[in-house]
Amino acid sequence: MTTQPKYLSDTQMSLRPGILDLGLGHPDPTLLPIEAVKRATAKILDDLGLEALSYGWAAGPGPLADWLRARIRNNEGREVRSGELLITAGNSHALDQLLTLHTQPGDVALVETPTYHLAVRILKDHPLQLVPVPTDDEGPQLDALKQTVTDLKRQGKPPRLLYTVPTFHNPTGCSWSMARRLGMIEVATESGFLIIEDDVYRELAYDAPASPSLWSLAPTGVVARLGSFSKSLSPGLRLGWLTAHASLIEKHTSGGLLDSGGGINQFAAMVVSALCQAGDFDVQVSRFQQAYRERRDALLAALAEHLPTCAVQKPGGGFFVWVVLPDGVRSDALLTRAEACGVSFVPGVKPCWAGGGENAIRLAFSLYAPDELREAARRLGEALIPC
Ligand SMILES: Cc1ncc(COP(=O)(O)O)c(C=O)c1O
Repeated sequence: MTTQPKYLSDTQMSLRPGILDLGLGHPDPTLLPIEAVKRATAKILDDLGLEALSYGWAAGPGPLADWLRARIRNNEGREVRSGELLITAGNSHALDQLLTLHTQPGDVALVETPTYHLAVRILKDHPLQLVPVPTDDEGPQLDALKQTVTDLKRQGKPPRLLYTVPTFHNPTGCSWSMARRLGMIEVATESGFLIIEDDVYRELAYDAPASPSLWSLAPTGVVARLGSFSKSLSPGLRLGWLTAHASLIEKHTSGGLLDSGGGINQFAAMVVSALCQAGDFDVQVSRFQQAYRERRDALLAALAEHLPTCAVQKPGGGFFVWVVLPDGVRSDALLTRAEACGVSFVPGVKPCWAGGGENAIRLAFSLYAPDELREAARRLGEALIPC
């Protein structure tokens, strides 16, 4: 991040003086598409102001839905049929609302280890009983998944859902192999639980196109996929979408929330539809890809130089690098020393519940410029030396 936003206190990002905080999984604000949003806002207000400022249709405005359908058909080869799409206020909102409508308190939710720590908070809000599934670089281990499901059924607590981030995973940056993708779908189909696929990083692919979504591979109804504009355009828009079986979408569109408030975030949805139709979505995604690819490569090279005893994998996309520390080094203990050296991160030990991250840390390369990332790696190396 090269310049400090003017009203930083009005955003979720809080930077501490003297600390390069690689714990923040935020886009660099200086890369956000301000001019494109300005143009699209003016166009929508001039052309369709009345619709944009009215209560919207429950499933979301037609122009954005049409654009998404075409993009999904072209990129994923699967048709979004009538009634299978809902515009949301982003993945956090969609996950929360999906859980409200699809689960009862105490239901069992399977989760990868480690997983996106803030999704854990949403799952716990409902409150669901979280059951970890051991996960490696290729995804949830299928034998362990099957055994867990069998054990839960025997206890009379069959899982209601599996929450997964299969593409450019948060926190590890990995993408699940095709074998694991198909295996997860098979287990879910046989056992009758819903896979909730958090697909927030799909557009941020740096080396090759992202792997097919679980939603595009699975029989209809097995997967509810959450998509978001937070990483491909900007998080302040609070806009995303859900592709799922029409009956699940219908639970949303016929529910009290949309009956009372109309389509979610109508104005932002109309603005984004104008932006996409003007061709600015692809321009912005390329801009992010170019900047983040350069940052990822700078961080990886600096980690190889300054943390040679750590295991680091190259992520093919997304925001994160997962660093496995040398044996015996705990991520929470390292955090204290790292902050004293002027660098911070998310320790794998607790927030990335449920287990599996005691000796690992999550570094985000999205927020800082390459030089700052190199300096952050140098400071990390300095913090690791006394270990
Ligand atoms: C895996 C994952 N899901 C969801 C989110 C939040 O998405 P949204 O801004 O669409 O709510 C993030 C943001 O960091 C994320 O990493």
